[in-house]
Parts: sequence; C-alpha cells; structure tokens
Amino acid sequence: VTRSAVTGVGSYLPEQIVTNADLAKFVDTSDEWIQERTGIKQRHKARDDQPTSDLAVEAARKALADAGKTAADVDLIIVATTTPDMTFPAVASIVQHKLGAGVGVAFDVQAVCSGFVYALSVADGFVARGLSKCALVIGAEEMTRLMDWTDRTTCVLFGDGAGAVVLEPREGQGTSADQGMLGFALRADGSKTDLLYVDGGPATTGTVGHLRMAGNQVFRHAVVNIAEGITAACAAAGIEIADVDWFVPHQANQRIIKGVGDRLGLDETKVISTVALHANTSAASIPLALDAAIQDGRIKKGDMVLLEAMGGGLTWGACALRL
Ligand code: ACO
Repeated sequence: VTRSAVTGVGSYLPEQIVTNADLAKFVDTSDEWIQERTGIKQRHKARDDQPTSDLAVEAARKALADAGKTAADVDLIIVATTTPDMTFPAVASIVQHKLGAGVGVAFDVQAVCSGFVYALSVADGFVARGLSKCALVIGAEEMTRLMDWTDRTTCVLFGDGAGAVVLEPREGQGTSADQGMLGFALRADGSKTDLLYVDGGPATTGTVGHLRMAGNQVFRHAVVNIAEGITAACAAAGIEIADVDWFVPHQANQRIIKGVGDRLGLDETKVISTVALHANTSAASIPLALDAAIQDGRIKKGDMVLLEAMGGGLTWGACALRL
C-alpha cells in the first residue's frame, strides 16, 4: 500500500509581535479580557511589503531542508489560504516561482481555518495515486489584513504566519503501524455561512472586506464539530482515540481546545497549544503548532498524530497520521 508521509516540516512567523497591551492602545480591550476569554497573549503581523506568498516561501524552504529535498524535487504545491496576495493567480503559483521550483502542479485550497487539513487530503490523493513524488502542502495566512480594527470582538483574535510540510510516498502493510496518512474526516455545512464570513469579494462588493463572526455560535459549533471530526478520523484510520500520541488542533481559542479535550476526555498533556503566542492564524495554525512541538522535542518520528480544525464555511475536519 502506498501512502503519503510527512518527511519534512517547517514554519515561519513574521518578525513584528503585537501584544494584547499594544492592541489596547487603540482598541477598547485589555490584556486580561483577551487572555481570559481566548488564552491569546500576542500575535505576529506581516510587514506591509510582505505578502502571504513570502511567508509561505520561508516555511516551505525550512520544510524542504528538513526533508533533505530541494525546490527542484517539488512536483506539487498546494497552499491553503484565505488571504491570497491577489485574487489570482493562486499563491501556490507565486510560491513555485519564488522557490525556483520547476513546472509542476500548483493551486490553492480555500477552506478557511480547515484549509490545511483539506489540502493535506488533496495532496495525499496525488501522492497515493503516483501523481506526485514530492509535494509541498503549505498553510499561509495574513489574517490581520481582514480585520476591522474598530470591531474588538474579532480584531484581537487573529494573527499572521505560515507552516509547511513535505509529503512523499512510502510503502507499507496497510496498517496503522505504517508511516503516513491513515485516515481523514472532512465536512462542510454551507447553511452556517452567516456565522463566520468576510463581507467583501470580487463578485459582490468589489472590495476585500472584513471578517465578521457570531463568536458565541461559532464557539458552540466548534466544540461539537471538532469532537465529531476527531472521532470520525480515528474510525477512518482504524485506531482508537487512546492510540493518539499527540493532538495538534487548529489554534483558534484555548477555550475551544479545552472544550474539545473535555468532551472527548483527552489527556491535556497530549494536546499541543500555541494559541497564546500565535493567536488564530487560520490555515497556518496546524503546521505552525506541529513544527513548534517537533522543534521543542515533544513530537517525534513514529508518533501517532491527530490534526483537527474548524472554520468558516462552516468547514471542519481531522486527519490521523503516523509521523
Ligand atoms: N475586549 C473587551 N471586551 C470585549 C471584547 C474585547 N476584545 N470583545 C467583546 N467584548 C465584550 C462584549 O462587548 C461583551 O460585553 P457586554 O457583556 O457588555 O455586551 C462581553 O465582552 C462578552 O462578549 P461575548 O461575545 O459574550 O464574549 P464570549 O465569552 O463569547 O467571548 C469570543 C467572545 C472570545 C469571540 C468567543 O465567543 C469565542 O471564542 N468564539 C469562538 C470564535 C472563534 O474563535 N473563532 C475563530 C474563527 S473560527 C475558528 O477558527 C474555529
């Protein structure tokens, strides 16, 4: 059985850090409120002259180095993003050129905060069917570009960043002991579009627009949906939740992460959290958190890892993989 396996991981955060106290200088909020309701202490912010593709390229270079690959090896690039440099071309095409990768397949996946899990499943399909030997899957976002800085209920929650993985084919016995992607669960419920959206776009207002969210309702759906996604991905992978060594959730809010953990009875020490330092970086948050936990020595080769996300759409999903 051929599966796609993660052979390299990398991430990048823009230099500028914006603390809660920095925000409180021009938003009617406080460090105490933000930390208590969300767990967020700070977020990173891209420079004005630093588009999403630049963050993606930095993360991709690190992931390629980690995998012992060069840009010339890459035949597929998928970028999960909701904040593209331009309406088109895809950020993936721009990344291909900036990396110096040759002609191959390149496109973006738009599933907002669930984008990275969606993109992984697409890339896994290419690799498992022999259509790619070396794929880059990148989550890259500049969510600060979508903020209405007069709306304190949303502008304190988001940040910028990028994370990337390299996927390569690996042969195995078709069991959960094999390295690689073991099972996915992906969902979308378009009837909940109005709970979380951007109020602009080329075919409506002709503007970029700002992020709008019914926070309380999103929160309630998030906990239920993510828990269901985790359960379904474990079933698809043929494993039990207890077999998972590490949970790497989308980093929206510490209370959502805790709510899911409580609902499923997860061991808190197995749940990776970077939301305090990164805030919500949408499609970038999972590979950023994965890389952070590999860098600090917690997540190791051979571990069973469960990635899970939920975001606008509403979309949600999870993926079980052996690193
Ligand atoms: N600073 C100070 N006060 C604030 C702020 C702020 N930044 N934002 C809201 N408030 C006030 C409100 O005005 C309200 O005041 P009032 O009681 O006088 O009317 C009070 O705080 C409580 O507001 P609520 O919206 O009820 O606060 P809640 O406890 O629901 O927390 C939050 C809001 C943090 C947005 C929460 O609903 C949440 O986490 N929702 C999940 C949404 C999310 O994380 N989405 C991310 C995108 S989707 C995803 O990635 C899963």
